[in-house]
Amino acid sequence: MKKKIIVGNWKMNPESLEEATRVFTSVRKVASRLSSAHIVICPPDIYIQKFTSSRSRVSTSISIGAQNASIEEHGAFTGETSPIMLKDIGVTHIILGHSERRSMGETDEIVAKKVKTVLEVGIHPILCVGESTRDEQVLYLDTLKNQIKNSLAGVAKRYITQILIAYEPVWAVGAKEPMNPLVIEEMVIFIKKVLSDMFGHDEALQTAILYGGAVNFRNAPDIITKGKVDGLLVGRESVNVPSFIELIKSVDKL
Ligand code: PGA
Repeated sequence: MKKKIIVGNWKMNPESLEEATRVFTSVRKVASRLSSAHIVICPPDIYIQKFTSSRSRVSTSISIGAQNASIEEHGAFTGETSPIMLKDIGVTHIILGHSERRSMGETDEIVAKKVKTVLEVGIHPILCVGESTRDEQVLYLDTLKNQIKNSLAGVAKRYITQILIAYEPVWAVGAKEPMNPLVIEEMVIFIKKVLSDMFGHDEALQTAILYGGAVNFRNAPDIITKGKVDGLLVGRESVNVPSFIELIKSVDKL
């Protein structure tokens, strides 16, 4: 059985290394006892090395990811962090194309270039896609299809199963309620069809699809079982220790 993936996107939280360490240590303790879930914690870059350097104590059920990476590998790019540097300190996953970064001006073209660079470096991209709104004419499906195609433009077929696709309808990110799990299932089928047309049927079936947007410990089991996703991308609730631990345990039991 494939393990369910739970990605914790801490965003720009928490505000101190002490608190970050407290959250990470609590999650790591739970991760060491998991049987069917795998955790990927994506803290702000500044905290990453503190967690990866204690890697010998990190169980095999937890990995460390970043929330973004530079489009470039090295050079005169003030303020940027290269995926090579992230790899060097033990990062295994990088969230790319999150809607909060897209709203800061990151285009599909930029995202596609980052996806390719990150893959070449040997890190798993967690590619975020999702429509901003839903219209009655169902044009949002075309929008989503184009976003997937453009964000994966030029990616070689052999790489696709290394990528995790995080379907995050933008209107559900930071919202009170997630998407209805039965609609999530429809969207997963749609995304697999787009991937199948691009990369082939088997590759599409093997590529992990996650759901993100207002996930919490109450709705997580339904989203996984009824939504038929391979995992979850959790924002706010991933820095809320008791809730996140509850969420992890509920998914591990499925
Ligand atoms: P949320 O965020 O869980 O706080 O809605 C999800 C995300 O931004 O990935």
